[in-house]
Amino acid sequence: KRILVLNGPNLNLLGLREPDVYGATTLADIESTLKRQAQAARCELDFFQSNAEHELIEHVHQAAGQYNGIIINPAAFTHTSVALRDALLGVALPFIEVHISNVHAREDFRRHSFFSDCAVGVISGFGAQGYELALTAALKQF
Ligand code: DQA
Repeated sequence: KRILVLNGPNLNLLGLREPDVYGATTLADIESTLKRQAQAARCELDFFQSNAEHELIEHVHQAAGQYNGIIINPAAFTHTSVALRDALLGVALPFIEVHISNVHAREDFRRHSFFSDCAVGVISGFGAQGYELALTAALKQF
């Protein structure tokens, strides 16, 4: 199995960024935890973060036929990006949406996602562990 993990804008700042909301775990920590988990399951895992919408879209396009599915934290693009949604629908790969924080317990504008209605499932509010939960689900579902 091959799984692609995509992270959107500002997630490169994890560990420094609003630690009361997002915790102390860095994106590098998350990547190494997931790589270990994937290796134990004999699954190939690629990990990519970008602050640029078009780079995330390009990675989704290039994932077609290469991966069994995608785990994505679209970050702020969750609430804004029809283009990234259309890219995921365009390649027709199953995806799991992850949020570190509980987006339903925050500002109203975070409650709407352009992704949730098309996702296999959504994980929100479990901190960095959400990625591990998503990978566990992806290994079964994709
Ligand atoms: C986030 C939640 C989004 O609302 C926010 O814009 C982010 C991170 C999360 O992981 O909790 O950047 O996706």
